[in-house]
Amino acid sequence: MERYAHISFPFPIIFSCFFFFTIFFIHGLLASSSQLNQTQVEIMRNLSKTLNSLTGSNSEWNTTNPDPCSWERVTCSPQSSPDAAVTQLSFSGLGLSTTKNSSFSTLLFDLICGLNTLEHLDLSLNSITTLPESFFADCVGLSGLKSLNLSYNGLDGALGNFSNFAGLETLDLSFNHLTGPVHNQFDSLSRLKSLNLSSNRMVGTVQSLLGGGKVLTLEELVLSSNNFSGNIPNSVSEYANLTLLDLSQNSFNGSLPNGFGEFPKLETLLLSSNNLVGDIPASLSGIATLSRFAANENKFSGTIPGGLTKYMRILDLSYNQLGGEIPSDLLSPPSLESVDLTGNHLEGAIPANLSQGLYRLRLGGNLLNGTIPEAIGLLSGLKYLELEGNKLDSGIPSQIGDCENLTLLNLADNRLRGGIPKELGNLRQLVELELQMNNLSGGIPNEIFQLSSLSTLNLSRNSFSGEISSAISGLKKLTNLDLNDNMFFGSIPSSINNLNNLIELQLGNNNLSGTVPPMPSSLTIALNLSSNLFGGSIPSYLGSLSELEVLDLSHNNFSGEVPNSLTKLQSLTLLVLSYNRLSGVLPQFPPYVNVITNGNVDLIGTNDGTGTVTKKKRSSLMIIILAIIGAFLGLGLIAAVLLYVFSKRFYRVEDEGIEISENPPQIVDGCFVTSNSIHRSAIDFSKAMEAVSDPRNVTLKTRFCTYYKAAMPNGTSYSVKKLNWSDKSVPSGTHEKFGQELESLGRLSSSNVMVPLAYVLTEDSAYLFYENAHEGTLFEFLHRSKENILDWSSRYSIALGVAQGLTFLHGCAQPVLLLDLSTLTIHLKSTTEPQVGDIELCKVIDPSKSTGSLSTVAGSVGYIPPEYAYTMRLTMSGNVYSFGVILLELLTGKPPVSEGVELAKWALSYSTRRDQREQILDPRVSKASLGVRSQMLSVLKVALACVNLSPEARPKMRHVLSMLFNAK
Ligand SMILES: *[C@@H]1O[C@H](CO)[C@@H](O)[C@H](O)[C@H]1NC(C)=O
Ligand SMILES: *[C@@H]1O[C@H](CO)[C@@H](O)[C@H](O)[C@H]1NC(C)=O
Ligand SMILES: *[C@@H]1O[C@H](CO)[C@@H](O)[C@H](O)[C@H]1NC(C)=O
Ligand SMILES: *[C@@H]1O[C@H](CO)[C@@H](O)[C@H](O)[C@H]1NC(C)=O
Repeated sequence: MERYAHISFPFPIIFSCFFFFTIFFIHGLLASSSQLNQTQVEIMRNLSKTLNSLTGSNSEWNTTNPDPCSWERVTCSPQSSPDAAVTQLSFSGLGLSTTKNSSFSTLLFDLICGLNTLEHLDLSLNSITTLPESFFADCVGLSGLKSLNLSYNGLDGALGNFSNFAGLETLDLSFNHLTGPVHNQFDSLSRLKSLNLSSNRMVGTVQSLLGGGKVLTLEELVLSSNNFSGNIPNSVSEYANLTLLDLSQNSFNGSLPNGFGEFPKLETLLLSSNNLVGDIPASLSGIATLSRFAANENKFSGTIPGGLTKYMRILDLSYNQLGGEIPSDLLSPPSLESVDLTGNHLEGAIPANLSQGLYRLRLGGNLLNGTIPEAIGLLSGLKYLELEGNKLDSGIPSQIGDCENLTLLNLADNRLRGGIPKELGNLRQLVELELQMNNLSGGIPNEIFQLSSLSTLNLSRNSFSGEISSAISGLKKLTNLDLNDNMFFGSIPSSINNLNNLIELQLGNNNLSGTVPPMPSSLTIALNLSSNLFGGSIPSYLGSLSELEVLDLSHNNFSGEVPNSLTKLQSLTLLVLSYNRLSGVLPQFPPYVNVITNGNVDLIGTNDGTGTVTKKKRSSLMIIILAIIGAFLGLGLIAAVLLYVFSKRFYRVEDEGIEISENPPQIVDGCFVTSNSIHRSAIDFSKAMEAVSDPRNVTLKTRFCTYYKAAMPNGTSYSVKKLNWSDKSVPSGTHEKFGQELESLGRLSSSNVMVPLAYVLTEDSAYLFYENAHEGTLFEFLHRSKENILDWSSRYSIALGVAQGLTFLHGCAQPVLLLDLSTLTIHLKSTTEPQVGDIELCKVIDPSKSTGSLSTVAGSVGYIPPEYAYTMRLTMSGNVYSFGVILLELLTGKPPVSEGVELAKWALSYSTRRDQREQILDPRVSKASLGVRSQMLSVLKVALACVNLSPEARPKMRHVLSMLFNAK
């Protein structure tokens, strides 16, 4: 940087710069005096003062320029002409809060009312909780206002009357806490085209809104996610201009009125998640503009009218009570792209006439029988095919192998017969293949092992047989493999160890035999070898699966002692050893491991004894060997050797799993990032390296890092974090680049982010220094401590703090994304002050250089957004997903994965019906009061939005933050 400061600019450049600057300056002065008239300039000045006192200190409105028309967030028109006037104000996301100072907020709205030329006012994404009475009663100046956006605020109470804003065309009040019914508030808005009341708490019928036929100009009406009830009135069809009608997620009941469907311009009709009954009106098929229709999660019955999809692109009728056959023309119109009929009572065969535009076809959970049409092979754009849970009883047509864009193929739980066609091996995009619960047989064709994108393969509960080929290692991205309940035989190929993304391996209830080969260390969720014919001793190398949570070896012929190494499985929660021929004394496992040992006659299953038998036996073997050597070397030497070997032996056994080295790591480079002189004088790099070479100083291990406590000569302690370069995809030439990255991170300042103070590089690792403000991780507080349950107010401030930290990181000029965001990487300074840790990982680990899929490099199980398996790209919306999982942990008290089920998926499945949502809250805190419960439900809404399966649908972090603020 400094080098450039010495370069001098040639004179002509300086001169012309000066020249232009002067021109601009003069121009600026002239312009500012020729624009707004004095009244408006005065109002704008006062507005800027008022506004800045209502916003948080971090987002002041910059109004340094004397001409208000040049301020950010202000639009004047006509531009720079003598009669310019303020037409548009955009105060979105400024941190405006009306609760702090109500007289200022009244003043704010009074000032705005004085701008009688205003056409567009955007106040979205703030913390406006009430609008002053005077705004509705006396604001006569805004009759020319065309659009008003108050979405994402905390507006509560009933809606005021908008009669003073007669010119409004667009009114957005979505994502607030508005209550009460709609009566006549909008009646005088004779120009209203777009009204959005989505995501509030409004109740009552919509009789007065849609019944009186008063605002017939409406083009877009969004009432979703409220608690509106009653019938959808007959007169709704008088709204002939409607292009969008969204009534989803309410409690509307009754059947659709006669004549429903006479909307000449309707493009989108959403009725999802209500209690609607009766038939799907056939008249809908006559709307030539209707491209999207969703009526899922209601109680519609009867049959699906023929021709319904004549003009449609997207149809969703899932989870109703529709019966009869699928009309033969339903799936054929050429413009059709996506059809979801899951969860009805449809019967008969799948129509063979299929639109070639289809990319999604979901017919699961019906009573369909017959064959899978071969014509599916013509759908070259098909990405998702789900036919599970029917009574299909054909073979799998080989033509499916022609759908080269297929990423999900789910044919589970049918009556399919025959083998897997080898043509499925052509599906190079396939990520998930679900064939479980059928009558399929034969071996797995080798072509299947060429599916290089495949991440989940479930063949469980069929009659497959044959040996598992060593070609299986071709499934490079495989994460979940389930072959349970088949008749596979032979031994497990040793190439299984090459599946280095595998996190779950289910081989239970087959006829597999032989010894168990080394398994990939990526295994996390479960290794299930139960009910097979495995024999020999349990290999001690299973003890290296340091992230494994469930190990089931039951119902086999394992014999000998239980290896001590299994006690070092740091993540283990369940170990099933029952019904084998194990003997000896069971080693001592940590108290949180549930060890089941019944059905082993010779195993002494004390789980509280000394459990050191294995060690003693090996040690005595060692003594014999050493004694023989000793006979040659003389007694004095024996003593020395024995002493050395013993000390080493016991040391190793103690600390297996935590890497140890006898000598402190050699410092290659050590640098300060902080400029704080207190830290600079306190931190002693070589003392710290001594501390990290002693495993007793380990305070925490996460997926990518180990934390140590290091005491400095002056008595203060620091937290030192070790990053392992070795097996991760660290960019080359790293050392220098790493230093630069850390220095830029060190300049960040947010009280909710763990910012490094210094770092040390060694040959194979990097060590980062932090203030030792470590009370423990959020994980420990939520899931490890049984006595001190965090109350809701702590959990809420933790949620806010983490959201603030993330919003800050995502908002940096160069946004910082988190590779591993989980409750284990959130550190607590106190029970209300969280800090986001491990912020440097995505700079250090380059997922694109990894051989595996991103989902195995990025993050911890349970927090990984589903799209990472497909996209290989770390994104902000991916971080939002992980944050949603953290919110769910705070709300439910449950860990991110339990019994193999991800918390996010569980919560999503549980919460489709709003009346069930309350049941998933942690009863230990939700019982506290009605207020707590309702706040938790609001936060749950936010969490569910964050874990939306579609990354595009997830809110941005700053929206999340504002929604959380408003949940209070
Ligand atoms: C300034 O302009 C506004 C809007 O154009 C107008 O209502 C007002 O009367 C003007 N004031 C003066 C002093 O000209
Ligand atoms: C305010 O805006 C001016 C000119 O638009 C700019 O030079 C100045 O840096 C800004 N100040 C802040 C604090 O952003
Ligand atoms: C209102 O503001 C929100 C948040 O900025 C935005 O998403 C929404 O599209 C706006 N509404 C309208 C009708 O423009
Ligand atoms: C495979 O399918 C079975 C039966 O539906 C299910 O229980 C199991 O969890 C699935 N396995 C995986 C790895 O998803």
